[in-house]
Amino acid sequence: MSKAIPVVTVDGPSGAGKGTISQLLAAQLGFHYLDSGALYRLLAMAAQRHKVALDNVEGLAVLAGHMDISFEMNPDGGSPTVRLEGEDVSDLIRSEEIGKLASLVAALPEVRQALLQRQRVFAREPGLVADGRDMGTVVFAQAQAKIYLTASADERAKRRYNQLISKEESDSLPALIEKVKARDERDRKREVSPLRPAEDAIVIDTTGLTVQAVLAKVRQHVDLRLGH
Ligand code: C5P
Repeated sequence: MSKAIPVVTVDGPSGAGKGTISQLLAAQLGFHYLDSGALYRLLAMAAQRHKVALDNVEGLAVLAGHMDISFEMNPDGGSPTVRLEGEDVSDLIRSEEIGKLASLVAALPEVRQALLQRQRVFAREPGLVADGRDMGTVVFAQAQAKIYLTASADERAKRRYNQLISKEESDSLPALIEKVKARDERDRKREVSPLRPAEDAIVIDTTGLTVQAVLAKVRQHVDLRLGH
């Protein structure tokens, strides 16, 4: 990563508001946006489609390095269009089932290594907002501004529930709470790149805050760090 390119990292557990805030921030700043979770989700989906088993570490690493994916930014600050082998899978990758598979493949060091460079190439002029679990700690450890978003477990599960309801998934709220908790536990406890705030990140608890209130706090920190 070139030091001259400004990078803002936004990490945190699922449902903390990373995606919404990162996309709006990227649109405001006119920066590129990396949804790193989508890479792990795409890998999980590619593995399913190509029948690569979850214990085939070498096969998964090769797939991670070579899968044919593309992202098309949404200029209004919404989710990017995500393609796997040319097919728009933007909605398909959002299911909690794919989320679970993503967190299983994400625990493999070989997979993370294979995805490292694919993530770093997103850092291009005029700048990047990178959203994930290890953006500030590993992938963009030299980033100029680092944010860690969190929220109470209940609120995070409710947000995920509302996201999934609009995609017609049928999990009840209690069932979803358990799945989201299990995924977060796995992300926090894995040996490689566990979910945690970078030492130089500011931590923002988004429980009970509106999107605009969170964005204002984030923006204040980012402007200070980027010297805007
Ligand atoms: O953010 P999202 O919910 O799409 O991420 C799906 C999964 O991908 C996470 O639960 C986590 O296991 C993995 N992930 C990761 N590192 C990142 C982003 C996502 O391990 N930087």
